[in-house]
Amino acid sequence: MSFLEKLFGKQTKEEETMTTEKLNIGIILGSTRQGRVSPQVGEWVKGIADKRGDANYEIVDIADFNLPFLGTTDGTEPGIAAWNEKLASLDGFVFIVQEYNHSITGALKNAIDFAREVWYNKAAGIVSYGSTGGARAAEHLRGILAEQKVADVRTHPTLSLFTDFVNGTEFKPQELHLDNVNAMLDDVLAWSGALKTLR
Ligand SMILES: Cc1cc2nc3c(=O)[nH]c(=O)nc-3n(C[C@H](O)[C@H](O)[C@H](O)COP(=O)(O)O)c2cc1C
Repeated sequence: MSFLEKLFGKQTKEEETMTTEKLNIGIILGSTRQGRVSPQVGEWVKGIADKRGDANYEIVDIADFNLPFLGTTDGTEPGIAAWNEKLASLDGFVFIVQEYNHSITGALKNAIDFAREVWYNKAAGIVSYGSTGGARAAEHLRGILAEQKVADVRTHPTLSLFTDFVNGTEFKPQELHLDNVNAMLDDVLAWSGALKTLR
């Protein structure tokens, strides 16, 4: 028996799994329009996250699921089930949020509405962009996430269409955002791990 085991007792199999398994964090692209810049922003966040090596990070592209507009079909499209399965496999999220008419995209709201319990008791960070850093859209998203029992962390990297993009299309983020992205990820991981104990 090791020294630590003598002091604190032997871990159960369940406790061992909870402390050794890496969390699964989905980086959700909020826009689906042709010509969107969100994949560039998502890949940048994933690059920073992967360097940390502290969780399994993956890009989750709403466009891949071909979700219909909620309530307009019988709900049997395979993408709806696949979207719910994907969310169920995740412990936390980073939302890549773009500002459309001072809010989030219709595609992101529709995708959020298409799931229920699979959102519950998980954590999320927000990385947003727009003319004012996407701040208005991000604040709207916080209200929506509360209804889905998703705990959104405070640290929030805000990217400007004027200073972090060339011509609003080519993503060239300023160096200063790096610390903020890492601080946001620190919180998302801590909260995702803590909330896992509730599920
Ligand atoms: C329908 C629409 C509405 C928009 N409204 C806003 C807005 O209210 N505030 C803002 O800062 N940018 C606004 N924009 C600019 C977008 O934030 C910008 O085009 C951004 O690149 C969109 O993200 P995407 O390329 O990932 O789709 C709007 C763009 C579209 C297409």
